[in-house]
Amino acid sequence: MYTVIILLIFSYLFGSIPFSLIISKSFYKIDLREHGSGNVGTTNTFRILGKKAGIVVLILDLLKGAIPVWTAMLVDGTGDFPVVIFGVVAALGHVYSIFLKFKGGKAVATGGGAILAASPLIFLVLILTFLITLKISKYVSLSSVFAAVALLISVMFTGDPFMIGFGVILAVIVIIKHISNMKRIKAGTEPKITFM
Ligand code: G3P
Repeated sequence: MYTVIILLIFSYLFGSIPFSLIISKSFYKIDLREHGSGNVGTTNTFRILGKKAGIVVLILDLLKGAIPVWTAMLVDGTGDFPVVIFGVVAALGHVYSIFLKFKGGKAVATGGGAILAASPLIFLVLILTFLITLKISKYVSLSSVFAAVALLISVMFTGDPFMIGFGVILAVIVIIKHISNMKRIKAGTEPKITFM
């Protein structure tokens, strides 16, 4: 139980690290929260800081979700405790970061990293859903919401109650965090990507 508690704290703190903000402030001398959508996530990093910073943040945010799950898989002492819970906690850290007064991002990359570690097959389904939606709509936010819906459907096939719980919590967080984007799509003010 001691190991589980330590890992839960680690997952939350690790997920809380606002890599996009650290990079924007350290290397570009700007506060990402004051630019673009104001979101401290991968998409806004691509949008405001460009491809190089975007790719770095994408990898770091994916790892924020994956490393807690992989760590829990590797260490002894977690017993039957479901490893996916560490992924949910890391995603919650990203959304409600202790370093940002409990504000944060939209859980797409960090949640994606947790899924990658917990179920590479479901990750593949979500990436395909995301890319197909992006190709057709050019909206990252809509693609994220469609991937969240694909997650909801995919976890139902696992038959694993913890995986289902993990998927439902993550999908609901992602969908709720994108309500403002959906309103912008309806109003015609949501930016589209230009490179696909
Ligand atoms: O990953 C978040 C993305 O789906 C939307 O980000 O910055 O356009 O609100 P943003």
